[in-house]
Amino acid sequence: MKPHTIAPTPPMGWNSWNSFGSQINESLICSTADAMVEYGLLDAGYEYLIIDDCWSLKERDSNGNLVADPEKFPHGIRYVADYVHDKGLKLGIYSCCGVRTCAGYPGSLEHEFADAATFASWGVDYLKYDNCNRPESLGTNLLYRRIAMALRNCGRDILLAACQWGTENVHQWIRSSGAQTFRSTVDIQDCWKSIESIASARLELPFAGGAECFNDMDMLVVGMYGKSYNPETAMGGCTDEEYQTHFALWAMLNSPLIIGCDVRNMSEQTQKILTNKELIAINQDPECRTCYKLSVYGNPDAFVLVKPLCDGDYAVGLFNFSDVAANVSVNFWDMGISASSRRMMAMRDCIRHHDAGTHHEMFSQPVPAHGCEVYRCRVSEA
Ligand code: GLA
Repeated sequence: MKPHTIAPTPPMGWNSWNSFGSQINESLICSTADAMVEYGLLDAGYEYLIIDDCWSLKERDSNGNLVADPEKFPHGIRYVADYVHDKGLKLGIYSCCGVRTCAGYPGSLEHEFADAATFASWGVDYLKYDNCNRPESLGTNLLYRRIAMALRNCGRDILLAACQWGTENVHQWIRSSGAQTFRSTVDIQDCWKSIESIASARLELPFAGGAECFNDMDMLVVGMYGKSYNPETAMGGCTDEEYQTHFALWAMLNSPLIIGCDVRNMSEQTQKILTNKELIAINQDPECRTCYKLSVYGNPDAFVLVKPLCDGDYAVGLFNFSDVAANVSVNFWDMGISASSRRMMAMRDCIRHHDAGTHHEMFSQPVPAHGCEVYRCRVSEA
């Protein structure tokens, strides 16, 4: 029997929270679906369109069911799911393990099985499940197990994205709960400091995540440029260089790639970063191996990430987190090439999309402040 899996590689999609916060509605979701198809995002692999917090009424109906806010979603969620499915996309929705969501809407505590059945009946394919307003007495370990059991038995494939923020050593137990992704850090904001701190925290957990349970580093802020209806995320924005580095880090570290900018109004550069097929291929490599990190002699703010890929290639990322340009080098000896092996590295630049020559012993490159380079390297005979 072919194994049945929901997330063999990191999920990819778009989520409403970063750019729109509570300002969501049917026309935004449908026009975003249109844009995801029109601008090549679906073709690049972004298949989930996720409605975050604030989609429901503030109270359940008299039968205890969740109800979509009729002002925001006049035709209900089933209609939106059908629209999204017709485009070839999948629909995601949001709830929370507590009594209320983070923004104060009804949460799924003590309604786990009923809500899973509701979501399945609407045609939902993905549930982001948050961590606000739960009783102190109930650990998240139990509550994520509960919703996972409900979803795994609701009669429909629904991916569980556990938005846990990294408390209670989540990385140690979340895989056994049944969730397909898990957040292990605080919410991202649209500024370099936030990207740097999430990436650094992720690098402290080198073995977290893998197929069917990926460590979600939070939604991408690529292309937001400080613009958002959500004051919690808007934070001044980043340069394109920083957005490129952000995307490369999330790609190399096997994070889900969930876009957070308004894809209906993307700049050319944003579209280029988000649809970079060579970086996406590294993120979606079927073996889902974690990276190892090499330090750069004399520069504590620079480092190299190396990820083995399924065809024998290696993805090599040179990162410079310092505020000034720096030379970042990788010594192939550290990757396994000994002098006696008579092997070299044929390198392909995955950001500029050209071959970057075959190199002996080491490779060194000037990298701008907050910048990066990513290469796909193939071992070749000297
Ligand atoms: C939490 C989550 C965010 C977002 C908001 C919604 O802060 O971590 O990603 O879903 O709640 O209220």
